[in-house]
Amino acid sequence: MKRVVAIDGPSGAGKSTISRMLADRLGFQFLDTGALYRALGMYLDRKGISHLDSDEVLSSGIGDVKIELSGEKIFLEGQDVSGLIRTPAAGHLASVFSARRPVREYLFSLQRNAAIKDDIVAEGRDMTTVVFPDAWAKFFLDASVEERARRRYQQLLEKGMNITMDQALSDIRDRDQRDSNRDIAPLKKAEDSILIDSTDISISEVVEEMLKKLPA
Ligand code: DC
Repeated sequence: MKRVVAIDGPSGAGKSTISRMLADRLGFQFLDTGALYRALGMYLDRKGISHLDSDEVLSSGIGDVKIELSGEKIFLEGQDVSGLIRTPAAGHLASVFSARRPVREYLFSLQRNAAIKDDIVAEGRDMTTVVFPDAWAKFFLDASVEERARRRYQQLLEKGMNITMDQALSDIRDRDQRDSNRDIAPLKKAEDSILIDSTDISISEVVEEMLKKLPA
């Protein structure tokens, strides 16, 4: 296992942007685990499988699905789905399917394998608690729910999507509720992770703060 900077936190806390910047600064690879959940959720949905189906149906649906990460791109069965997985609908599918054991078990080894060959910055919901509990550095990145909804709203507006601030807020609240209250690998702060609140500080200030807190 190489060096892993593990970062968890709720939706909209800025994890992806911050992790990408941190990985650039350190010369590490960036592992966006939400993208894996999004791609797998989309795959199962395309096959007509519901998150309410039995474990057996989910496991056989997952079968030998091919999900590959190549730099910033993600391929599902050979198709580049990097853009397609970024919609609110794909985020919702990821959130509901990610509560299911066959989905988490399948993605566990894929995530662990990413740290065999490269130093990585890995971000998600259970990096510090389940996937990389012995990571070289562990952070929990948080921000107020209003600030996270505001960021999500801006992001989707910039992509030309039709959304109101109220919808963004209710989407973030639903996501918090599901991600933190599921039985398997719920989002929670690991005791030994460093809490950083990004509500009132800029992305680059967060990155500087993290760099200062890395082991020598
Ligand atoms: O970070 P994101 O918005 O791309 O993640 C989408 C969903 O995937 C999120 O609501 C919960 C799930 N997820 C997870 O359960 N565990 C992870 N390590 C990453 C994402």
